[in-house]
Amino acid sequence: MLDFIETPTFSEVKLSANGLRVLEKRYLRRNRIGEMIETPEDMFHRVAKAVASAEFKYKSKANAGSVENEFYQVMANLDFLPNSPTLLNAGTEDGQLASCFVLPIPDSVEEIFDAIKHTALIHKSGGGIGFDLSQVRSKGSPVGKHPNAAGGPVALINVFAKAADYIRQGGIRRGCNSVVLSVDHPDILDFIKAKNDPLALTNFYNSISVTDDFISRVLAGTDYPLIDPHSGSEVKRLKARDVLNLIVDQAWHTGDPGLVFIDRINLDNPTPAFGNMKTLTGCGEQALLPYESCNLGSINLARMLMDNGDGLKIDFDKLERIVPLAVRFLDNIIDINHFPVKEVERATKLTRKIGLGVMGFADMLIRLRIPYNSTKAITVAETIMEFINDLAHKASQRLARERGVFPAWHGSTYEIIGIPMRNACCTTIAPTGTLSIIAGVSSGIEPIFAAVFVRNILDGENLLEINPYFEEVARERGFYSRELIEQLVTSNHLYLRKEVPEDVRKVFVTAHRVSPDWHVRIQAAFQRHTDNAVSKTVNFPKSATREDIARVFMMAYKQGLKGITVYRDNSRDLQPLSTSEEG
Ligand code: CDP
Repeated sequence: MLDFIETPTFSEVKLSANGLRVLEKRYLRRNRIGEMIETPEDMFHRVAKAVASAEFKYKSKANAGSVENEFYQVMANLDFLPNSPTLLNAGTEDGQLASCFVLPIPDSVEEIFDAIKHTALIHKSGGGIGFDLSQVRSKGSPVGKHPNAAGGPVALINVFAKAADYIRQGGIRRGCNSVVLSVDHPDILDFIKAKNDPLALTNFYNSISVTDDFISRVLAGTDYPLIDPHSGSEVKRLKARDVLNLIVDQAWHTGDPGLVFIDRINLDNPTPAFGNMKTLTGCGEQALLPYESCNLGSINLARMLMDNGDGLKIDFDKLERIVPLAVRFLDNIIDINHFPVKEVERATKLTRKIGLGVMGFADMLIRLRIPYNSTKAITVAETIMEFINDLAHKASQRLARERGVFPAWHGSTYEIIGIPMRNACCTTIAPTGTLSIIAGVSSGIEPIFAAVFVRNILDGENLLEINPYFEEVARERGFYSRELIEQLVTSNHLYLRKEVPEDVRKVFVTAHRVSPDWHVRIQAAFQRHTDNAVSKTVNFPKSATREDIARVFMMAYKQGLKGITVYRDNSRDLQPLSTSEEG
């Protein structure tokens, strides 16, 4: 077992039983007959060694051996973890280490089928993909001499989905994909309804790309043109408000589609000379140019606290040590990555985007005794992310002096302001779906799902999860009982349990009890200090109305989010986490 350094604070940190189970089932290497040949320490050593090997390339003063040791420590202490493909593949013959990719889908049969091949190669290596279908000509458009021949974007997603179904990422999971269609595409109405059947396209999250102009037409109650991408001509006009209402209605039913605020995304495009961004990747956290990829890594905020005897506080000194190390780690990955597609290698090495983010935010708040749905939580979110973003940029600047600027820096927005950077983007907030289980903390910046719940992952295997801080506080304050835990598993009604003190109920507020407005406010607080995008789901109770969703869409736009994903409880059959919360 790992020998973890104990924190003298609220709770000791160690690899939880569930974290270990996930590592054993998915990440630790096995021999040809399926026997495990790695321990968690071996895995972290394998990754640290492979990632530190990039140091030799730069003949830097840094001693590769000591860098390797630091990389090992930061992972083994669960202070920082790189994205799943790095844990799985670093130091192996596969060697594909990034999570996020964007593939262009041009409007020709040859290029479309190239994209399907690229999709298969990326999925096989553990990556998720963002697709923009807006350039694909509409259904029934002419193809060459043949009138009425084109299948259109909606039929095309099904082709990608069928191909994707065939490939399991590294044999362990199916790739997440996000598909975007511009709101002015002639097939927009069909696309909005594309996922009417909740079991259709389960690994494809659909979003509509909307411009500022579209939103102002919604507000003004006017219409807007649909433009065929092939001919470039207007084919029809629709009322902007009617289209938004249809999107809202569908999102109310199934959670899809979400919205992508494309003008907001391109405001932050560091390399406009290389084109505009059209879409966000797999789980919505990363806006990239066509063929770019990005590797992610997340700092475990639950471990970024200290107590000098006067109560828990954010450990800024620890962050000052960890953030530069994490930036170096992620920059190194670009040099040792085995890219599955040559166009991806070329585009990724031009901008060298990395995505440092956080996980365990809700657990950090719990340890600080701050409810997620409070202005204090917004202050913590802003303070911590501003600090991390600033440190990440400084670290990238130091790397630029040591190793050179990213090649597309010339002509970038950073050149204009005279700042050398090694990476065109440094920060991104990922969902950390699996990483957070390994680290045993709340995922990304989401509130806790429940204090006690059953997690259905791992191909149908169910894992009971008791929030360790809840267990600790319950034992400390004398309200822990087997009966309470059993009742919380069957009903997620902590907020109704009278034996639990009120301050504890407030601090352990769950995703369903956090109002959608607070979800958006927290997402916006992180977005204000994040280069790229922020992955977050805004949860609605089952009883939410369409008006509630419409209001939150507009709020997300006004708060400067880059995209929004909503989920109304029980509106999709395949929920990743389950309790009996009725909302
Ligand atoms: O925690 P982990 O590193 O496994 O992944 P995540 O933070 O939940 O997701 C990060 C990215 O990995 C997503 O945006 C997708 O691009 C990709 N991903 C995927 O392709 N397939 C999955 N089943 C999960 C994630």
